[in-house]
Amino acid sequence: MTRVFHKTETDGNAAGYRRRVRSFVLRAGRLTEGQSRALKELWPLYGVDTSEDKLDFWTLFGNEQPVIMEIGFGNGDATWQMASAHPEENYLAVEVHRPGVGHLLLKLEEHAVSNVRIACEDAVELLDKRVPVASLAGVRIYFPDPWPKKRHHKRRIIQSRFVDLLVEKMLPGAILHMATDWEPYAEHMLEVMHNRQDFENLSPDGRFVSKPDWRPVTKYEKRGERLGHGVFDLVFRRTA
Ligand SMILES: C[S@@+](CC[C@H](N)C(=O)[O-])C[C@H]1O[C@@H](n2cnc3c(N)ncnc32)[C@H](O)[C@@H]1O
Repeated sequence: MTRVFHKTETDGNAAGYRRRVRSFVLRAGRLTEGQSRALKELWPLYGVDTSEDKLDFWTLFGNEQPVIMEIGFGNGDATWQMASAHPEENYLAVEVHRPGVGHLLLKLEEHAVSNVRIACEDAVELLDKRVPVASLAGVRIYFPDPWPKKRHHKRRIIQSRFVDLLVEKMLPGAILHMATDWEPYAEHMLEVMHNRQDFENLSPDGRFVSKPDWRPVTKYEKRGERLGHGVFDLVFRRTA
């Protein structure tokens, strides 16, 4: 497995580098025949190349529509539905799980959705290295891995430093929408966002909102419902 080291995060080893804490575990996951075909034939139409170059949204999407980044789309069923319902927006969808990427590619083809581009890599790295400053009109993070055990909390993607990175890449007025079915993670999200001058909570009571119309029910959310979990949506506006 390739190890990625970051200068900024040290653990006191000699070189001052440490292995980056990742918010995901790469599961093997078998590809269906259709997904394998999609990854070969459709990736050139919808895929974002892996490189170190900054993304140029105009070149990527072929227009200047606002770009919304979705992090960890899973099987992408919510992604294609949002994109199909909002052709006036562009969607930069990021997921590391290849079967999910294959699934979304097939759905984009089936429903003739043209305003989605897919990156199959760590969204935090993509955001950090390749997404231009003040370029995103929105960020959506639906049902991120909850990492329920205390010793794993550091793997949760929603952390203060991650939100600092979001602030840098989001336009003033851009919307950050998070949802989770894990109540302690919902409270953690509120805590991370608490007292930030650069985000305003759009909930009337400063906590959660009802599910906004733009968010379809996701696969992971349905699983949570079967387990009797609640659903918590958090919507914040990036202040100027
Ligand atoms: C619990 S699943 C939820 C999937 C989907 N949003 C849903 O609601 O059905 C979380 C997903 O986020 C992906 N993920 C976690 N960290 C990621 C990262 N840093 N970059 C890209 N994908 C990530 C995982 O691979 C996983 O598929």
